[in-house]
Amino acid sequence: MGLFVPGRRPQRVHGRPAELTTDATIGGALHKATIRDVDLAGKRVLVRVDFNVPMEAGRIVDDSRIRAAIPTIKDLVERSARVILMTHLGRPDGQVDEAYRTRPLAERLSDLMERPVRHLDDSIGPAVEAAVRAMQDGDMVMLENVRFHPGETKNDPAFAKHLAALGDLYVNDAFGTAHRAHASTAGIAEYLPAVAGLLMEREIQTLGRIMVDPPHPLVAIIGGSKISTKIGVVRSLLQRVDRLCIGGAMACTFFKAKGLEMGRSLVEEDQLDVARELLALAGQGSGTLVLPLDAVIAAEARPGVKVATVAIDAVPADMKVLDVGPMTVERFLQTCDGAHAVVWNGPLGVYEVPPFDRGTDALAEGLAGSDAETIIGGGDLVAALQKQHLADRMSFVSTGGGATLEFLEGRMLPGIAVLRDKNDA
Ligand code: ADP
Ligand code: 3PG
Ligand code: MG
Repeated sequence: MGLFVPGRRPQRVHGRPAELTTDATIGGALHKATIRDVDLAGKRVLVRVDFNVPMEAGRIVDDSRIRAAIPTIKDLVERSARVILMTHLGRPDGQVDEAYRTRPLAERLSDLMERPVRHLDDSIGPAVEAAVRAMQDGDMVMLENVRFHPGETKNDPAFAKHLAALGDLYVNDAFGTAHRAHASTAGIAEYLPAVAGLLMEREIQTLGRIMVDPPHPLVAIIGGSKISTKIGVVRSLLQRVDRLCIGGAMACTFFKAKGLEMGRSLVEEDQLDVARELLALAGQGSGTLVLPLDAVIAAEARPGVKVATVAIDAVPADMKVLDVGPMTVERFLQTCDGAHAVVWNGPLGVYEVPPFDRGTDALAEGLAGSDAETIIGGGDLVAALQKQHLADRMSFVSTGGGATLEFLEGRMLPGIAVLRDKNDA
C-alpha cells in the first residue's frame, strides 16, 4: 500500500467543504517557475515573504522564518534586482497597529544580510512609490505590514493593483502564508508575472514528493491535540505511507473510539465516529496505524505535578494522558527503523510543560540519529524541537504551520496556484 494511485482521492468527512485538487494538480505544484527561470537584472522585484515571526515586547523571539528566506533575497541582490519585500505580521485586522510594524523585521534582515534594508512606513501610496523609484540595482526596501490595509486579507483587486504597481515581477517565497488567498499572496499575480522563490521551491519539492511520488518505506507520525484539525492530513497520508504512528491527545480519541477508558484526557467526543472511520480506512488489524502502548499520566499538566507511566489500557478515571511513555517511543522508533523517509507533524505530549516533553524529545533524538530523511512540520512541533536544539538535526523543517497541513492534505494552495508553470515562464 502507499503507492500513489491516480483517482483515489481523499474525501473530507469533516470541516470545510471539499476543495481538494486532483492529484495531477498537486503534481503541478512541482512544476512552477522560480527565480532561476527569469531575468532579474535592473528589475523591481516584489517579494512576498512570511516574516510572521513570534514577537515579545517588540523583540523577535525566533527569526527562523527570516533566515529561511535569505537564499532567495541574496540571489536577487546578487543578480542586481531591486528588492521590495512585503510581509504580514500578526493579525492587525486592517488597521495600523504599532505592535505589528515591520521595522524590527527590516532591521533583523539588514543584520543578517549585512546590507541596509530601508523600512517604509506604508505598503502602498505616493511616498512608497517615490522610495521605490529612488532605488538602485541591488537595493532592498521593506514595506510596512500589508495587513494594515483591509484590502490585504479581503484579496481586494484595488489593493493588489496598488502593490503590483511597485514592481515588474512578483516572487512568492511565503510558503507559510500560501494557504491564504490574500492580495499579496494571490491577487497580485493577476497583474504581474509570478514565480516562486527558493524557499517556496524547496518546500514544494520536499512536501510535494511525499504527495506525488512517496519514497518507500514511508512512515508518518501525527501528534498534537485535536483530531478534528488533522483528519484531512491523516486521510491523505494513509494513502501514501506504509505506517502511520499516532501520538498526542489525538491518540486518546482513537482509543476512546476503540472502547478504552481515557480518564480525563483530552478526547473529542464528537469525533469518535471519525476516529472509527479512520481506523477502518487504515484497515483494522493491518498494522498500518501504530498507536501508543503506554502513557505518562497526571491529574493536570502543571510543573511539579505527580506523574506516573501506565499501560494504555490502565488509565485511571481521574487522570489525564499527557505524554506517550518510553515503550511507545521505542515502538515508534522501531516503526521508523529502515524507513526511507519519516514525515512528522505535531508533538506527542504537552511539550510546553516538562516532563511531558520527554516523549517528543526522545523520539526526535532517536530520529536525529537515524538514516531516514526526516521531514518536520507544524508550528508546535517545530517550536518543541527548537527548544531542545533538535530542529537543526532534522533533514527538513517546514516553515509552514497551517500551510504545511493543507499541502499534505492534498490541497492546491492559492499562493502556489497563481504561480506560472515552468514551461510558460
Ligand atoms: P502542530 O502545531 O505541531 O501541528 P498541534 O497544534 O496540532 O501541533 O498540537 C499542539 C498541542 O497539542 C500542544 O499545545 C500540546 O500541548 C498539545 N498536546 C499534545 N499532546 C497532548 C495531550 N496528551 N493532551 C493535551 N494536549 C496535548
Ligand atoms: C502562519 O504563521 O501560519 C502564517 O504566517 C499565516 O498567518 P495567519 O494564520 O495569520 O494567516
Ligand atoms: Mg499548533
